[in-house]
Amino acid sequence: MATQGRGGCSSRRRSSPPPSRCLRPQDLAGLRIAVSTGGTREPIDPVRFLGNRSSGRQGMALARAAADRGAAVTLVAAHTDDGVLADAAGLTVVRVATAAELDDAMADAAEGADVVVMAAAVADYRPAETSDAKLRKDAVDGPGRVLDLVETADVLAGLVRARRDGQTIVGFAAETVGSHEELLERGRRKLARKGADLLVVNAVGWTQGFESADNEVVVLAAGGDVVAEASGTKRAVADAVWDAVRAVRG
Ligand code: CTP
Repeated sequence: MATQGRGGCSSRRRSSPPPSRCLRPQDLAGLRIAVSTGGTREPIDPVRFLGNRSSGRQGMALARAAADRGAAVTLVAAHTDDGVLADAAGLTVVRVATAAELDDAMADAAEGADVVVMAAAVADYRPAETSDAKLRKDAVDGPGRVLDLVETADVLAGLVRARRDGQTIVGFAAETVGSHEELLERGRRKLARKGADLLVVNAVGWTQGFESADNEVVVLAAGGDVVAEASGTKRAVADAVWDAVRAVRG
């Protein structure tokens, strides 16, 4: 006999051992958490889009870790690599495609949430118009084509504006930088601009930060202090982020 508990854990009365995730301290029990993950895709026409290289692994690891530690988790997932969402037992998963859809879904999920984490890679711009027919080269004079882009909503900034008392908001920033000092400086500026409670910052490049099971991050608190540094599997990084969230919530 097994009863389904929070985060997909079961309280078992018979001899079979519980999944290892259920042996973890339930130190996020009672918290409602909304996490976004993956990369948005902004359609140009029925066969093309503007996208990015986010796999969704870090956001999924955050959602999985939070649920394993007892939280009730809503995961708003834009495009993710194959298999990334496979272990979603106990999570409420909402699929979205575009920045506008992610904005709506996160606004809904954040309404009742104690903690909101924006790990998704959100397009900053979308095509001003989406064509219902495939764009064709022969419709253009000359060798180039100009695509008009308009800004998307800043989802994180909107969540910060709507923040309820007691709600903790965590942002992410993936930066191309020349040094650790520059990473911290860019992170501090972004954190001040966005107004989140914590910002998880990591360095990325052509061969760094993507398509990897591992990650290396610095967590900054409002004011700019480094409150955590973590490296290793995305799951280990996720657990370090939740430790920092617990610390900042007191
Ligand atoms: N973000 C968001 N909505 C956007 C763009 C970004 O909510 N339209 C969130 C991301 O999910 C992340 C944080 O803002 O948590 C920082 O994202 P990033 O792309 O680094 O920041 P930008 O504000 O887009 O700044 P930049 O000019 O460096 O791209």
